[in-house]
Amino acid sequence: MKITVIGAGAVGSTTADNIARANFAEEVILLDIKEGVAEGKAQDMMQTAALLGFDTKIKGVTNDYAQTANSTVAVITSGIPRKPGMTREELIGTNANIVKSVVENLVKYSPDVIIIVVSNPMDTMTYLALKASGLPKNRIIGMGGALDSSRFKYQIATKLNASPSDLNAIVIGGHGDTTMIPLISKATWNSIPVTQFLNIEEQEDIIKKTMVGGATLTALIGTSAWYAPGAATAAMVRSIALNENKLFTASVYLDGEYGESDINIGVPVIINKNGWDKIVPINLTEEEKISFKKSAEAVRAMNNVLRENKNI
Ligand code: LAC
Repeated sequence: MKITVIGAGAVGSTTADNIARANFAEEVILLDIKEGVAEGKAQDMMQTAALLGFDTKIKGVTNDYAQTANSTVAVITSGIPRKPGMTREELIGTNANIVKSVVENLVKYSPDVIIIVVSNPMDTMTYLALKASGLPKNRIIGMGGALDSSRFKYQIATKLNASPSDLNAIVIGGHGDTTMIPLISKATWNSIPVTQFLNIEEQEDIIKKTMVGGATLTALIGTSAWYAPGAATAAMVRSIALNENKLFTASVYLDGEYGESDINIGVPVIINKNGWDKIVPINLTEEEKISFKKSAEAVRAMNNVLRENKNI
C-alpha cells in the first residue's frame, strides 16, 4: 500500500515518521516543492529503520506527482504555518491556492485516493479539497478533531493526574481557537464522567486551554506544532489502511446531519477503508447545540472567502 504525504515540513515529515514507525504501509512518498528537502528527510528517516525495526520505505521527491500514482491515502500538509499571534483563518489567501493545486495534481495520478487535509484553515481547506477534487464526500477528511481531542485529553489528564490513554473525550466543531467545542459533558475516565471529579472552574479551565492549545504552542515555539498533529494524522491513516473502524472526530461534509448542510466541520465519524464511513450522532446539550451552530456559522463565513477569491 502506498501512502503519500504532501509537504515535508515539520507536520508532513512527522506524519511520515509516525506512519513508518507503525510499520503498516509498504511505501510512503514524501513530496515537497523545495528541491532536495523531501529526499533528505526521507533518507534521514530511512536511516532510523535499522534502529527502530520498520520495513516501510520512505521515498522523498521534489514536486514529482507521477511518483504518487495509485496512492491509497494522501495527506496534505502544504502551505504556510501560522506565526505567533496569527489565527489559522489568516492563512486562507496563501493556502487556498496551494491546496487547490495539490488536490488537482493528486487526483490526476490517484483517482481513487482518500485525502486527509491538515493545512489551515483546515475546515475550509477540506471543503475546498472536496470541491476541487470532485471525489465522493467520504474520501475527503479534515484532520483537526483527532488532534484537538488528544489535546483535550492531555488537559484533563494533567488536571486529574491520570493517564491520558485512560480518558475518553472528544472535541467537535471547527478547528479554530474560538470554533472548537471540547465536550466536557461527555468526557469519561475509564467510563466514569470526569465532571464527577472536576468543579466548574476546573472544567472551564480545561476547555479554555484546549481551545487555545495550538496557539499556546505557536507562541512558545515560534511556529505551529508538529508532534501531536503528525501523530493524530498518522493514526487516521492507519485506521484507513488497516480498516480499523476507529471513531475520530474529523471534518466531514454534512448533508443535514447535526442540522447543517454544505459544510465540512468536525463531528464523530468512523474511519475505515472507505474513508469516513458513518457520522455518529451525539445527544448534545442545548448549550452545545448553540455552540455548534455558532461554530458552523464561522466556518461558513470562511468558506465564503473561497467564493469571493474565486477558489471554488
Ligand atoms: C495545530 C495546527 C496543526 O493545531 O492546526 O497545531
